[in-house]
Amino acid sequence: MTDTNAILPADKQPAIKIVAMPKDANAGGSIFGGWIMSQIDIAGAVPALERAKGRIVTVAVNSIEFHEPVFIGDLISCYAEVINTGRTSITVKVEVYAERQPSNKQTVKVTQAELIYVALDEDRKPRKLPDLGTD
Ligand SMILES: CC(C)(COP(=O)(O)OP(=O)(O)OC[C@H]1O[C@@H](n2cnc3c(N)ncnc32)[C@H](O)[C@@H]1OP(=O)(O)O)[C@@H](O)C(=O)NCCC(=O)NCCS
Repeated sequence: MTDTNAILPADKQPAIKIVAMPKDANAGGSIFGGWIMSQIDIAGAVPALERAKGRIVTVAVNSIEFHEPVFIGDLISCYAEVINTGRTSITVKVEVYAERQPSNKQTVKVTQAELIYVALDEDRKPRKLPDLGTD
């Protein structure tokens, strides 16, 4: 769903914040989708790592939707939360917001994605997730 008048979620902290730079732009002058996908993967890994308490790997991207473009100079905030877990897998939802340049201050929800990570053991084989509440 397009939301061009969004506000940043007040009750959550972004997993990452980053400014979109000229080197990240495509030939059309907006930001390359692959760069945003990379930020999403990095952001989604943050809660997955916390849940897995160890090595993880991305096994699938269930969905990704680009609702609005990102432009050079936008301040990007990626919010990530675990929405499901299996025996070894962790499903994470990532929402991406762009704060446009100060001269045109506007917050826009630009992208949403759902990714699956798998906890790995030392042999890079799937590892059962630790029970919740264990340190
Ligand atoms: C992740 C990896 C270890 C899984 O190995 P595997 O032999 O498929 O393991 P399993 O079949 O036991 O599946 C492990 C978990 O992943 C889930 N899974 C595997 N493939 C999946 C897919 N395509 N979509 C969603 N979930 C998937 C399984 O449902 C299972 O979850 P559960 O334990 O919670 O039920 C292996 O596929 C791998 O190393 N892939 C490369 C990952 C990588 O390098 N990613 C970065 C890309 S550059």
